[in-house]
Amino acid sequence: MTVRGLGPSSRQPTLSRRQVVQLGAIGAVAVAGSYAGVRLLDASSPTLVGPGSRAVREVEAARATTGNVVTRTVTAGPATVDLGGRVVSTWAYDATVPGPEIRMTAGDQLQVRLVNDLPEATTVHWHGVALRNDMDGVPDLTMPAVAPGGTFDYAFVAPDPGTYWLHPHAGIQLDYGMQSALVVEDPDEPGAYQQEVVLVLDDWTDGWGASPTEILAGLVRDGMGGMDGMDGMDGMGGMGGAMMGSGSASQPLGADAGDVAHPAHLINGRLPSDPVTVTAVPGDRIRFRVINAAGDTAYRFAIGGHRLSVTHTDGTAVEPYEVDTLIVGMGERYDVVVSVGDGAFPIVAVPESKAGPSALAVLRSASGDAPTPGRLPAELGGQLLSYGNLRPTAETAFESRAIDRELPLVLSSRDGGRQWLINGATFADREPLYVAAGERVRLTIVNRSMMFHPVHLHGHTFALAGRGGTGIRKDTVNVLPMQTVSLDVQADNPGQWMTHCHNAYHAELGMMSVVSYAV
Ligand code: C2O
Ligand code: CU
Repeated sequence: MTVRGLGPSSRQPTLSRRQVVQLGAIGAVAVAGSYAGVRLLDASSPTLVGPGSRAVREVEAARATTGNVVTRTVTAGPATVDLGGRVVSTWAYDATVPGPEIRMTAGDQLQVRLVNDLPEATTVHWHGVALRNDMDGVPDLTMPAVAPGGTFDYAFVAPDPGTYWLHPHAGIQLDYGMQSALVVEDPDEPGAYQQEVVLVLDDWTDGWGASPTEILAGLVRDGMGGMDGMDGMDGMGGMGGAMMGSGSASQPLGADAGDVAHPAHLINGRLPSDPVTVTAVPGDRIRFRVINAAGDTAYRFAIGGHRLSVTHTDGTAVEPYEVDTLIVGMGERYDVVVSVGDGAFPIVAVPESKAGPSALAVLRSASGDAPTPGRLPAELGGQLLSYGNLRPTAETAFESRAIDRELPLVLSSRDGGRQWLINGATFADREPLYVAAGERVRLTIVNRSMMFHPVHLHGHTFALAGRGGTGIRKDTVNVLPMQTVSLDVQADNPGQWMTHCHNAYHAELGMMSVVSYAV
């Protein structure tokens, strides 16, 4: 079996469908230098740069470090939690929803012992962190899943400051209550604000509506209830190239942005009936770190009576830009700074293009009536952020370079939404997306479905490129229905890296692949 095109000089790997299916089938376990130490059996196959390879250790050893170590234990297990008016049984980290925040400084090493008290295997994934591949927490790709009763010791340097989060990377566990914020502070950040507040947004069903496992089983059985999943969309040729997608001004993500009716939406684990209150002094500046940890819900976020100065997306700095409201897709983060007014104001997250009650927190700088749950502030209909508004800072912009390799990722579905596909295949049948270390790679994502997909790449931040791409760096991007988006990636973190839709159900139904370093 010959695989061409893996050298840094060639532009495009050319593999037959059969070759890549064979590679895909063995790629997950037979990675060179992987934890199992297994090498590819066929000597003519590309040698994949596995999580346990020397290249991974060398990149880690070369990272700038502070020498500080931050140590934690994270216990995943069944828990009974009070959402503020409703007590539910679920799975959580350290028995709280969200789990305890982890805070460190860029260059610190994080050492976390994961203790698995769940009845099924799990892992922790450190969403957004450009860490060493063997600590990325993807079962069977970067580590063995941790069996019930087992433990795993994570240890890695977090190289870049930013707002990150942790969640399981096993099955549909993400849509249970297991998620925590991971804040990596910037020692050089001027910090022109008095207070910092992390807001974790989440859609809730476990212990209330159907469990995520039951919901997934329903989707496998019934699909999206007759809504056609764009079978035959391949025949529609040029439509996939439409730059604007099909979103309208009022529904930028399209008319249907979620598959699952979650009965509740939470901010920091609280229902609107008993919301989290942020107290401040009028005139204070607060930096909010907003994390969308939901399984199936994008949110439109706003704070009544306040403008939002957007300073970071997915942890990466942008030139500050002021808006009234923004949409956070699943897996995305925004840091915004606000100048606190005088009074009590609603902080709201409204499910975007999806039915369901909004999530609420309260910003209070004076006595007075609490905001009424369900009364939505006018800011939600005000100036809405788009990616095109944002510009990278001098530090976060990529230096411009020729593209060494282009890889298409075509998103579609099959069988009425029972299967979600990348390049026509589910994860089990995937064709690896080969890259070589040192390359500048352009991923071109072509959405041939009528749903938006928040596409996430592990271990890297990409730059939004191509027509309309301003070069902002992110790790998760909302790709609108029928839209094409180009992402430039600097291949500087060797290993095997998941790329997938961050709709937990789409991912589980197949919409995942692997960006695979090979030599
Ligand atoms: Cu937030 Cu593959 O993950
Ligand atoms: Cu999706």
